[in-house]
Amino acid sequence: MDLFVVRGSTPLSGEITVAGAKNVALKAFVTALLTDSEVTLGNIPHIGDVVAMGEVIKSLGATVDITSHTARIHTPKKLVSRVPLELGARLRASSLVVGPLLARVGNAMIPNPGGCRIGARPIDRHIQGLIRMGAHIRYHSEDGYFHAQAPDGLHGVTFEFPKNTHTGTETLILAAVLAEGTTVLKNAAEEVEIDDLIGLLSAMGAHIRRSGAREITIDGVPSLHGARYSIAPDRNEEVTFAIAAAITNGSVVVHASQPKALDAFMTPVLAAGGGIQMIDAHTTRYFRKRALVAGDIMTAPYPGFMTDWQAPWAVLMTQARGVSTVHETVFESRFSYVQELQKMGAKIAFYDPAVTNPEAFYNFNWGDRVNGHHQGIRITGPTTLHNAILDITDLRAGATLLLAALVAEGESFVHGVAHVDRGYEHIEDRLRALGAHIKRIKEGDI
Ligand code: EPZ
Repeated sequence: MDLFVVRGSTPLSGEITVAGAKNVALKAFVTALLTDSEVTLGNIPHIGDVVAMGEVIKSLGATVDITSHTARIHTPKKLVSRVPLELGARLRASSLVVGPLLARVGNAMIPNPGGCRIGARPIDRHIQGLIRMGAHIRYHSEDGYFHAQAPDGLHGVTFEFPKNTHTGTETLILAAVLAEGTTVLKNAAEEVEIDDLIGLLSAMGAHIRRSGAREITIDGVPSLHGARYSIAPDRNEEVTFAIAAAITNGSVVVHASQPKALDAFMTPVLAAGGGIQMIDAHTTRYFRKRALVAGDIMTAPYPGFMTDWQAPWAVLMTQARGVSTVHETVFESRFSYVQELQKMGAKIAFYDPAVTNPEAFYNFNWGDRVNGHHQGIRITGPTTLHNAILDITDLRAGATLLLAALVAEGESFVHGVAHVDRGYEHIEDRLRALGAHIKRIKEGDI
């Protein structure tokens, strides 16, 4: 296993270009299963999750050729309809293939995607919608698979999600584009990654549009054709580099910037003392404008403050004067990084925000919580972080601990690099290009 050795407290400065969005690339690969013509995808990031999704669709019969940042995907007329358990277990987004398999083959076996360290992450909302579209779906605990059939094909339906679900919305879009008739999704997610998926599907001949607030209408078509499509940049990467600039008191110019997708991030960062300079429509400079001050955030589905941003934000707040709070409302267990920051001297305490009707208020199913889960943390700053031996447990927490190590005094050892490689392209090379003292070594080389 690799680990990062990071020597901290160096201001980062320079320019980076944001890579293609992980949470678009994964779904774009799945979308290619909807046609037996070739789909060419541009701006594909070189990250572990994309390689893993390539393995998933190859296991179903697709050919995948990734050269530089372009993926050419071709699926045969006859697809395999069962995702290998070990592949499905590695990548939660593999469950998204259920729609295209039901649409093209009439049946599908997908592993229970399971949760990871951020919560139970069931797919009950996805399944509810597919059943309403005519699928028969049962979970067999003895083999760990969802068994799905749609012998008469899928048909259009008006379906209202009980609560927001980003990939649940995508699952039903992917199932509806080839269904018989019109599907109207209500209380549909509005994350910008879904708009990119809609763009790709439209390029392939799908009839799909956002027909109102939190509403998507899809008119099923008999088939889709191939397309060439370049995916959007990754807004989570941009937020990570923006915070890296503010926290190290540096200055980072971000190319392929998407300020319009980051409204909910810009406001609290400016209030906290961060600096943001729009150089042009897709180039933004991030820096620290004045001494950092504490600020409160609460995560929410788009257009709210994204749950993926709260971990790097928490590191920023360790360097801010005052007491900050982070209220996580999307996932029930997204503070795994806290104990690692506490090892570095961060003053963070858990608390449970007073919420009158938690089942209605929280995006996760309230019954999925287990003892020890908290929805809030209080951060007292500023604190001088010192070096430590750190363990990464999930993707976004990984980038967070790198940020903390960049600020800390001394040399930190950050284990679990594979988590960061899942979602960030060549992260150490790009941080080093900004002046960071970071290197990747093998466990045995310590
Ligand atoms: C997607 O996860 C992203 N993953 C997440 O990014 C992101 O944080 C999240 O959306 C919010 O934007 C991908 O796109 C691959 P949800 P997803 O369905 O779709 C519960 C990253 O690091 N829920 O909106 O799984 C669920 O457990 C990842 O790139 C149900 O209970 O998020 C969660 O608590 C982390 N039943 C909440 O709702 C369901 O059927 C929101 O889930 C579906 C969801």
